[in-house]
Amino acid sequence: MSPFPRWRILLLSLLLTCGSASAADRSVPAAHAPAAAVQAQRPGHAAIASANFRATNAGLEVIAAGGNAFDAAVAVASTLSVVEPESSGMGGGFMAVLRRASDGREVFIDAREVAPAAVNTKDYLNSDGTPNRDAALNGPLSAGIPGEPAGLAWLAEHYGRLPLKQSLAPAIRTARDGFEPDSRLRGAIAERADDLRRWPASAAKYFVDGKPPAAGKLWRDPDQARTIELLAEQGRDGFYKGEVARKLVAAVRAAGGNWSEADLAAYQVKERAPISVDYRGYRIVTAPPPSSGGVAVAEILNILRGVETEKLDRAHRIHYVIEAMRRAFRDHNDYLGDPDFVKMPLDMLLSPYYADGLRQSILPDKATPSSMLPSSAARDPGPHTTHFSIIDKDGNMIAVTSTVNYTLGSTFVAAGTGVLLNDEMDDFALVPNKPNVYGLLGSTANAPKPGKRMLSSMTPSLVIGADRTAVIGSPGGSTIITQVLEGILAFIDGKDASDIVAQKRYHHQFMPDRVDVEPGVFDAATTGELERMGYTLHPREPWGFMNVVTWDHRDNKLDAASDPRRPSGLGKVQ
Ligand code: DON
Repeated sequence: MSPFPRWRILLLSLLLTCGSASAADRSVPAAHAPAAAVQAQRPGHAAIASANFRATNAGLEVIAAGGNAFDAAVAVASTLSVVEPESSGMGGGFMAVLRRASDGREVFIDAREVAPAAVNTKDYLNSDGTPNRDAALNGPLSAGIPGEPAGLAWLAEHYGRLPLKQSLAPAIRTARDGFEPDSRLRGAIAERADDLRRWPASAAKYFVDGKPPAAGKLWRDPDQARTIELLAEQGRDGFYKGEVARKLVAAVRAAGGNWSEADLAAYQVKERAPISVDYRGYRIVTAPPPSSGGVAVAEILNILRGVETEKLDRAHRIHYVIEAMRRAFRDHNDYLGDPDFVKMPLDMLLSPYYADGLRQSILPDKATPSSMLPSSAARDPGPHTTHFSIIDKDGNMIAVTSTVNYTLGSTFVAAGTGVLLNDEMDDFALVPNKPNVYGLLGSTANAPKPGKRMLSSMTPSLVIGADRTAVIGSPGGSTIITQVLEGILAFIDGKDASDIVAQKRYHHQFMPDRVDVEPGVFDAATTGELERMGYTLHPREPWGFMNVVTWDHRDNKLDAASDPRRPSGLGKVQ
């Protein structure tokens, strides 16, 4: 007899017996009881790992001027907006987990985009009712109201030591004086050239004589320099009200979008309680909804906790990890959305008893087919979204994942602002159970509504142990969650920052029912054994550019490593 009906019944009975709680019930605690070493120690030096050396250096410059990790985060993120616009920027949003050394406060900063008040799901359908992928991914209809500028102003005001103006100065300087775009940016512009050409201000910004900027030539972004300067001078109002807001709304509306100045003025940064999960002596502090990342990571670790992995060969260890991923992504699709709009059974999803039930449904020697939802085809995540990690000399830590969603976001630059808008609307389940660009499915929990945040996979995380601590995260669309999970497991296994970012990766997201593998991740024997258990292995490139900072409490040393898959990245200890 097939075991599936039985495990579904088990899941259903667990569902019915567990109460539900909304994330709104989970208020931010003043401070957590940290591992003693983290509480008492000050590293005395700082480390930053980001996907671009100019951004890492901007953060270190601000630290050298007396700033802390949070000021440095403002400098890194704003510089990335200029030098790595294919991944993140002022027209996008970010999620961060931070820990303040002075009082142990741990908090999740949600600077995620929101849907405009006039959002209309019909805009994302063709006349025959099929999903309109162009509207979801390109141009002003694909853009949510940005959260990045408000989030950076919030960080500076509530956690920084320096005025916002000082932390934004390196980005303004870089945009005004110019820089040589790296091969990734030039490649992203070439890849998205046809879409960029659809919007005159985008073409004017990203093409020089009709072509992507050439290697070795200075490239300037004066409009963005001015926009960031207004943010520096006036704080969040410099972006969300006045000249910039008017230009953003005029450009969006002229091109068929539906933003209003009221949408921008109403944007709010949210502080939320992070998800905290204990695993093998470490406490992982990670992203709650509207990210699905922390719930998934916690669910997977709770499942793995009950598996005696040390008694298994590599193939069977991987088997349990994949089955845990599969089950976590099923829940992602079914339950998760913006906590300000949907009630989610978080108590259940995060409960060790729920994980016990899920673990029981894993066959020891065989893949479980994902048979409940239609199959979907994911596109490669591509060179977009960015993560950086920082620890400063006092032990303040911040993990920031920032995005405009797909490569160069919506490709739409609002004329006169230099702001490249995101295409984050595609992270909503615009059409229920139809895959988004990452092949992710969603239910009504993640349906678009005015002012609602679209579900994210971003998983900025802290891994806090008695002897060692890590600040970790990655881009990669849906694969963010599994890449961060594998990074956390590698750290707990004792790997150092360079090995964690370099290690090859694999991913399962329930649907499509296959294991995406980075070439070389499994040796021939493990591959054969996994295939025998029923897995379809699917080669995939590229993978997210992970940036990790670690702190060894035994010798009080920091280490920083940037993903070797992105040569312009830099991890640096100062
Ligand atoms: O928030 C999210 O989950 C997506 N917008 C992230 C996109 C991403 O990571 C693209 N990656 N390389």
